[in-house]
Amino acid sequence: MSCILIVDDNDAMREQYAYDLKRLAQHDILTAADGDQALEILADQAVDCVVLDLEMPGRDGFGVLQEMQKKDIDVPVVVYTGTGDYARCVRAVQLGAWGFIDKGEPTERVAREIENALAHQRMAREISALRSRHERDSALVGRSQVMENLRGRIAKLAPIPSPVLILGESGTGKEIVARELHRLGAHPAAPLVAVNCAALPENLAESELFGHQRGAFTGADRLRRGAFESAGEGTLFLDEVGELPLPLQAKLLRVLEGGEYTRIGSTTVLKNRSRVVAATNRDLDVEVQNKRFREDLLYRLNVHTLPVPPLRERLDDVPPLVNHFLRDICERHRINFVNIHDEALAGLMQSDWRRNNVRELRNIVERLVIECGGKEIDAAVVNTTLGEGRTSHSTGTGTLAEQREDAERGIIRAALQRNDGHLTRTAAALGLADHASLSKIMKRLGMK
Ligand SMILES: Nc1ncnc2c1ncn2[C@@H]1O[C@H](COP(=O)(O)OP(=O)(O)OP(=O)(O)O)[C@@H](O)[C@H]1O
Ligand SMILES: [Mg+2]
Repeated sequence: MSCILIVDDNDAMREQYAYDLKRLAQHDILTAADGDQALEILADQAVDCVVLDLEMPGRDGFGVLQEMQKKDIDVPVVVYTGTGDYARCVRAVQLGAWGFIDKGEPTERVAREIENALAHQRMAREISALRSRHERDSALVGRSQVMENLRGRIAKLAPIPSPVLILGESGTGKEIVARELHRLGAHPAAPLVAVNCAALPENLAESELFGHQRGAFTGADRLRRGAFESAGEGTLFLDEVGELPLPLQAKLLRVLEGGEYTRIGSTTVLKNRSRVVAATNRDLDVEVQNKRFREDLLYRLNVHTLPVPPLRERLDDVPPLVNHFLRDICERHRINFVNIHDEALAGLMQSDWRRNNVRELRNIVERLVIECGGKEIDAAVVNTTLGEGRTSHSTGTGTLAEQREDAERGIIRAALQRNDGHLTRTAAALGLADHASLSKIMKRLGMK
């Protein structure tokens, strides 16, 4: 059911329209007797369409349209006029009105115009949802067995309405997985609303999720729908859910349990129809132990978990990912596609991408595209670029042993590069007995 606001200074006219429209279509009808009152209501209520009289004392229809444009209130407006002055209607459309009708026309015409405006609005929303999906989601690249298993799990979980918790190290592709769940879900044309729980401003966090009524707190100068409401039948993606402040965890839990919520400052109970997908790179069990995450919320969220494996466990995915990124980056930079030599690819498959997984790979490919200067990317460029990354990150994560191995790999790669890949010369430069000792060390470090 949609909510229609009728604005007319003529009481009889307004009430007649309200009565007729209610009878013709099952909408909620609100009425306003002048322009200012109309703007008040628009700030206060979730209106879906406005029927606006152009001629009113005080702030007339044009004034309302101007103010709506200024405040960025995106609600379709059907203007109606008794003057039959075509130029005025054109002016109203230029000010953002969706359509116009003459007061002489039957109410059925008005009703039809409203339905058209509503349908148009719905379609505009769907198109923007589809477009953002099309632009942002490159779907999951990778054909490794691990990846195929992940795809299988996604396909299984996508259609069900219960929450899904996506787990994985930083940069493994959790957000892409969330988009896949939405794309293959029950309502792919509905919006996917992503909320980064780590970036929620403390004082606005609750309003971001649940919305607020006008006047709910200082600065709440008009009604705002929250993420749950904006997601509608679509997906609410709670990214970095481990960072959600404890008071909000309690509120989120209540919505997940009861399926209902209210905007701040409102008593109207709203039904949650969206599918909740959460993601984290934290170990939530540890967070629970440390009292930073509610255990009951964890059990609500982790009915279905979807682990996204780190890139080092699916190095077969590196070549297709690199080619995917190369295409994407070259397109974005508007340059000709650069090729990559097989040996260079092999070099990229030797890194363990422990720091940032696929995102790290993507950044390296971006650097390679710049470094290679339009020529084919070869092993030497890869070695230098990876080496640079290593030294600049030498205070990385991992155990002492892991970091030491990392550093050793970097040193050997750099030395190999300085000596054109010549093993004996590299061994000598590094003060090793012979090339066999170097080979042995490289084998231990998993280098080819
Ligand atoms: N399988 C994949 N196919 C194509 N691109 C991918 C894939 N996995 C990750 N990417 C790309 O790698 C980058 C990081 O992915 P994403 O943001 O989804 O990771 P994340 O797990 O959410 O990371 P974080 O924990 O830091 O939020 C993005 O640019 C994404 O497009
Ligand atoms: Mg992410």
